[in-house]
Amino acid sequence: MAFDENLITRQALERVAKTPDPRLKAILESLIRHLHAFARETAITPEEWMAGIQFLTAVGQKCDQERQEFILLSDTLGLSMMVDAINHRDEAAAVTESSVLGPFYRAGAPIYRNGSAIYADTPGDPVIVSGAVSSSASGQPIKGALVDVWQTAPNGLYYSQDPRQKEYNLCGRFYTEADGGYRFTTLLPHSYPIPTDGPVGAMLRASNRNHFRPAHIHFRVSAPGHREVVTELYTRGDEFLETDPVLGVKDSLVVDYVKSADGYTLQRDFVLHAAG
Ligand code: BEZ
Ligand code: FE
Repeated sequence: MAFDENLITRQALERVAKTPDPRLKAILESLIRHLHAFARETAITPEEWMAGIQFLTAVGQKCDQERQEFILLSDTLGLSMMVDAINHRDEAAAVTESSVLGPFYRAGAPIYRNGSAIYADTPGDPVIVSGAVSSSASGQPIKGALVDVWQTAPNGLYYSQDPRQKEYNLCGRFYTEADGGYRFTTLLPHSYPIPTDGPVGAMLRASNRNHFRPAHIHFRVSAPGHREVVTELYTRGDEFLETDPVLGVKDSLVVDYVKSADGYTLQRDFVLHAAG
């Protein structure tokens, strides 16, 4: 049998043919086909292949308990949003769309009464955020849904990145009332840079890419019998909406803050996908 590029692909596929787990087999076969096609399409050189190996090695070496550079790589290549989209194909248009979780979520934020502020000793523009959570099945409000929120301070840092902020500053959890309502006071979010001191930062610079995320507030909304939504609300007019480095922006998640004499307000409802 003459040795050629297609023979290598066939032989590599044969090597995994006896993988007992059918799903693992399908994933390995697809990975081999796409990796080989990628190498053929780009006619990759040995030097470029080695640069790729070194890049992925550096991504792994940058990871520790606090930092997950592989997820950042996935985020910046659009893979995280792709995985998310594929796994929400069954949702009706009314269901609140999802966005990236990001690396700064911390479980266990304080549970506050509705109407509380989620920050202390932090300068900024107060904003009252309120709305209701409802079910896609019935359209009825959901009492007791959990609304988990987190965001940066106006200096662009999450509390976990900034020793001057107290633990769980600008993070909080709220249970919805009988009418599905939730309400809290926070600070107007600002755009901020994703971490660029690792290999992903080098990749962004090599591609002349923006590394600022548009201003946003993160939400995780869950309720029994419903699929949790992990999402973000983005500020209309932000200069980085079109160039979000992690491709998280969807039109339905761009919101309007209303300014009055008393400060800002934001009204936003969430619709959860009824499971089963
Ligand atoms: C964030 O919004 O916190 C974030 C998301 C993805 C990568 C980096 C940061
Ligand atoms: Fe964020």
